Order: sequence, then C-alpha cells, then structure tokens
Amino acid sequence: MRIEHCKTLVTGASGGIGACLALALAKRGAKLMLVGRRMAALQKVQQQISEEVGIIPLIYAADLTDSGSREELVSELQRTMGGIDLLINNAGVVDFTEFSEQDPAMVEQIYRTNLIAPVLLTRALLPGMLEQQSGNVVNIGSVFGSIGFAYFTTYSSSKFALRGFSEALRREIKCSGVEVQYIAPRATRTGANSDAVYQMAKATKMQMDPPEQVAEAIVKAIIKGKANVYLGFPESLFVRINSLFPTLVDAALHKQNQIMARFAAKHS
Ligand SMILES: NC(=O)c1ccc[n+]([C@@H]2O[C@H](COP(=O)([O-])OP(=O)(O)OC[C@H]3O[C@@H](n4cnc5c(N)ncnc54)[C@H](OP(=O)(O)O)[C@@H]3O)[C@@H](O)[C@H]2O)c1
Repeated sequence: MRIEHCKTLVTGASGGIGACLALALAKRGAKLMLVGRRMAALQKVQQQISEEVGIIPLIYAADLTDSGSREELVSELQRTMGGIDLLINNAGVVDFTEFSEQDPAMVEQIYRTNLIAPVLLTRALLPGMLEQQSGNVVNIGSVFGSIGFAYFTTYSSSKFALRGFSEALRREIKCSGVEVQYIAPRATRTGANSDAVYQMAKATKMQMDPPEQVAEAIVKAIIKGKANVYLGFPESLFVRINSLFPTLVDAALHKQNQIMARFAAKHS
C-alpha cells in the first residue's frame, strides 16, 4: 500500500511502538490522526512530528474500551479527514501475572483493549472502506498470539483471538479492495513491560527490540502488504514450529517457564 497522503488512524500512538509508528508514517507523508487516552503524551508526539517532519498530525484523546468514545472518534475522523484509508489497531495492554492470581478487572481490561476495541473500531470503519473499495486494516498482534506463553495467559489469548479475527475477516472481504494484515512483533522495549518482564527477559535471554526498529518494520510490512508478518528471528521460526508440533514447544518451554515463574506477579 502507498503511505503518501494515506488517511491513517493509529491507536495507542501516545507512547511505545505507536508513537514511533506515527513518526515513521509521518516521514512517508501519511495524513495522521493519533489516538490514546493521555492528551499530554499525544501532544508530545505531535510536537516531535511537527519538529522533525514539519507536519502537524491530528490528535484525539479517547478511551477505546468505551463505546461512546469510539463513536465520537469515528465522527471526528469523518469530520476532520473525511474517512480513512488505513486503520492501525495498535493500542494494547500487557500483564505478566500468574493467571490464577490475576485481578479479574485486569483480565477484562486486556480483552476489552486488545480485542473488543480493535474489533469494534474495525466494525465501525470498515463499511466506509468497503464503499470506497480500498483501504487497509492492520492489527498489531504479538508472537505471543501464536505461541501460548505462560504467565501471559490472558494477553496471549487476546492476541490469538485478534489473529483469528484478522484471518477470518481477510477471507470474508477478499476481492473487496480492502486488505487485512496481522503484524506480530516480538518483545519490544516499551513501557508496556514491567520491571519484572525486563528482569525475566534478562534471565531467560529473551531478545527485546527497540520500538523505533519495530515501527520501521511495521511500516515496511504495510507497504509490502503481506497478510501475516512475524517480526524477529528465531521467533518467526518458533511460530511455525508451534503451529505444526506444539508438544515439541511444550517441552522446549518447560525449563524457561520455571525461570519465568520466579518473576511473574503472584498477587491480585
Ligand atoms: N512491548 C512489547 O513487548 C510488545 C511485543 C509484541 C506486541 N506488542 C503490541 O504492540 C502494541 C503496542 O504496545 P507498546 O509496547 O507500544 O505498549 P505501550 O508503550 O504501553 O503503549 C500502549 C499504547 O496503547 C494505548 N492504550 C492503552 N489502553 C488504551 C485505551 N483503553 N484506549 C486508548 N489507548 C489505549 C496507550 O495510550 P494511553 O496510555 O495514552 O491510553 C499507549 O499509547 C500492543 O498491541 C502490544 O500488545 C508489544
């Protein structure tokens, strides 16, 4: 897909991968609307893009788990941009906790942010894209959305569902002119991860990418248009092995899980 002049909504653009993605897209000439809950953080990203690229992206503060806020966002998008060409469902929350002790409110928050919000935002914006017979929905998943990871059980399963949604919708609207991509980074150095995750990653030698690098890879994947993209090696290979021989991966992860257990939160 061509990024220049592309009317683009990036969710979760107030920090981490989304903020880097916004900058990378702005450098390629996208017309941006950036969304997150924190207005001050969005203004910082807007300022950075304005200084580095010379354009001022639109920003909009909204809690995407709230249906009223999503509706207002869609109206605002229509009013200010006259529709959309590229929806990037990037906003997400992570929690590294033993499932039996995870706060039920957090379980709900993860599914509402990582699954319900992107699905319903897509539901709201897809008819316009279908009408114009062009557009692209990009769902930001995770390698944990293909390999079920212990102590990230809720997070992992939310991304499995997002991957399933992407695959089914892609098949449903094939030949409509609208594409659906699922792009899955591996662990990335952002505020999404707690200190415990960083300590666990060090102890298990888990690789973590800088968000700027991940954002560049996502933009390149959008330009290329491949349906499913897994970032990082050997994680992309493990995704394939897990889909074919999950019991092999059970065995391979057994030792790592014992190390992870030392760091995962155990209280609700
Ligand atoms: N970091 C990793 O290791 C990693 C690895 C693979 C995949 N990913 C995926 O990459 C995406 C971005 O993650 P990140 O690491 O960049 O996380 P991050 O630094 O914590 O950023 C998350 C973004 O989501 C926004 N957000 C969260 N809840 C929201 C809500 N209810 N409404 C609106 N915006 C909300 C946050 O903005 P506000 O706080 O301002 O609302 C923030 O801009 C996520 O989908 C994540 O699952 C991350």
